[in-house]
Amino acid sequence: MYRFKPVLRIPGPVPVPNEVSLQMAKPMINHRGAVFKEHYPAVLKRLAPLFGTQNQIHMITGSGTSGMEAAVSNLVSPETPVLCLRGGFFGNRWVELCQAYGAKLHVLEFPWDGGIDAGQVGEYLKQHPEIELIFMVQNESSTAVLNDVASVSQARGSHRALLVVDAVSALGGTPLKMDEWGVDVIVSASQKCLMAPPGTAFIAFSDRAREYSADCRASRYYFDLRLYDKYMEKSETPFTPNIHNVFALEEALNIIETEGLDNVFARHILMRDMMRAGARALGLELLVKDEDASPTVTAIKYPEADSFRARIRTRYGVEFAGGQGIHADKIFRVGHMGYATPLDVLTALAVLEMDMKKYGEATKAAEQVMNS
Ligand SMILES: Cc1ncc(COP(=O)(O)O)c(C=O)c1O
Repeated sequence: MYRFKPVLRIPGPVPVPNEVSLQMAKPMINHRGAVFKEHYPAVLKRLAPLFGTQNQIHMITGSGTSGMEAAVSNLVSPETPVLCLRGGFFGNRWVELCQAYGAKLHVLEFPWDGGIDAGQVGEYLKQHPEIELIFMVQNESSTAVLNDVASVSQARGSHRALLVVDAVSALGGTPLKMDEWGVDVIVSASQKCLMAPPGTAFIAFSDRAREYSADCRASRYYFDLRLYDKYMEKSETPFTPNIHNVFALEEALNIIETEGLDNVFARHILMRDMMRAGARALGLELLVKDEDASPTVTAIKYPEADSFRARIRTRYGVEFAGGQGIHADKIFRVGHMGYATPLDVLTALAVLEMDMKKYGEATKAAEQVMNS
């Protein structure tokens, strides 16, 4: 098998369309000059429909975790009572970050193969009026679970806690309505559904979150939101940004806007359903039940999954992701977000069929979903 053209089927970073990659080769510009000042605010405005917000969106140079740390460092003072909703590896990242900033930590545990139970969150909040911040993940990439952000937000009732959401592997692949759902902080990144190279995080604060952060006593410098707000008045970032990711993002947004956001979301749902039908047709067990299934990544149980993945990589040049945390070596994950089409799902399934010598079984089931 010729493997000179590797196929990346992981939940980010995702393949980058050629026209997006080409933007990275543009000549360098002054990040305090006229061209940057024209493009930077414009691209952030175009992200607003993906966030579902009128709030200012900021770009931070760093990976998705830098956006998460920006959220925590602007909100969590020592001993702040926070509630982390942990149902996977990235839910746990909120726990670790809040610990690092000295929060008084409350953790609600959810099984690492299903969604967050909003009812349980509501009950916990009733018993703990002191909680000031809630941290959750919209699309838990480690388990391939899509959590219901709207229902968690609603479960707060009249509780004053702010809701902070990691939408790193969700934004641009599934609806997100920051303002309508009453979410206070959203964090995302460039290398997932946005189809751009890694190295850029995005963060949006509601007015309430911005007011709350003004009293935050945490030490912060690079991530200090007040600096980002101040420099935004001049259409600049406080520090030298990942300039070319602005251009890359513009091109990626051209692609997304041409397809239409609703069509983008529908494509992700279709890829999810095809992947799941194909895996089932091969007799493979899915980690997550249908109602919690992510539209951007699918997790499949497989004994000794890591050696299986290595075999697939060697034979076919296709890269699946492994399990994380308690799922290490027990599942493999197939990314179908961003620059991915139903044909990519058929290719991933064909590889599984060949490995299992069940020719045509998965692709047939997936094709039926595609044509239904
Ligand atoms: C849901 C989620 N949150 C956070 C992250 C962390 O992002 P990064 O690796 O860019 O720091 C990831 C990365 O895979 C993710 O999928």
